Amino acid sequence: MTAEIAMPLLMRWLHVGTAIVVVGGLVFYRLVFVPIADKVLSDEEREKLREPLMRRWKMFIHPSIILFLISGFYNYIYVTSAQHEGQGLYHALFGLKFLLALGVFALAIIMTSTMTWSEKFRKNQALWAVLILLASAVVLIGGYMKVMPAGSNHASQIDSGAGAVSEEAGDL
Ligand code: HEM
Repeated sequence: MTAEIAMPLLMRWLHVGTAIVVVGGLVFYRLVFVPIADKVLSDEEREKLREPLMRRWKMFIHPSIILFLISGFYNYIYVTSAQHEGQGLYHALFGLKFLLALGVFALAIIMTSTMTWSEKFRKNQALWAVLILLASAVVLIGGYMKVMPAGSNHASQIDSGAGAVSEEAGDL
């Protein structure tokens, strides 16, 4: 492994690692924890548990938003956009993924909030479903972008040896 790909690799690990923690945590909370808590705990006990639980989960959610933005923009600006130069679909998918991710960030902040104003949103079960569906859509788009073949411009760069780094980084 050459030094040039250390940073793209680190940013990819950060991006995928953050996605595992955040999307996995959201699915666990809504599809495992809530149904069991509803069955086993009284309303009072559930509310008593929810506050400290969300306070702790927020300590993952808020920094994750920063990590997604740093690793996502790094991936796009320094690794993938050169590989997909001239490929409108790739950049359109990036735009769509970014907008959906902003939706995930906004909903994740609201649904993990402990403030009174967010109570009516938190109690709205449909919003949890929207959050999980949005996050899943972002992951699916990310996976598709990953396997999209490089643009013809990038292919000719590789032939001439110019695109070596992003080619090597792109294989990560
Ligand atoms: C809810 C937030 C997000 C989730 C769950 C998420 C998830 C993912 C996943 C699973 C991949 C595929 C990784 C792989 O197979 O290599 C990916 C790729 C990517 N993501 Fe995200 N992401 C999120 C937010 C963002 C944001 C905010 C940006 C930009 C600022 C971004 C930019 C990218 C880029 C550029 C790629 C690489 C695609 C490629 O390899 O061509 N992501 N994302």
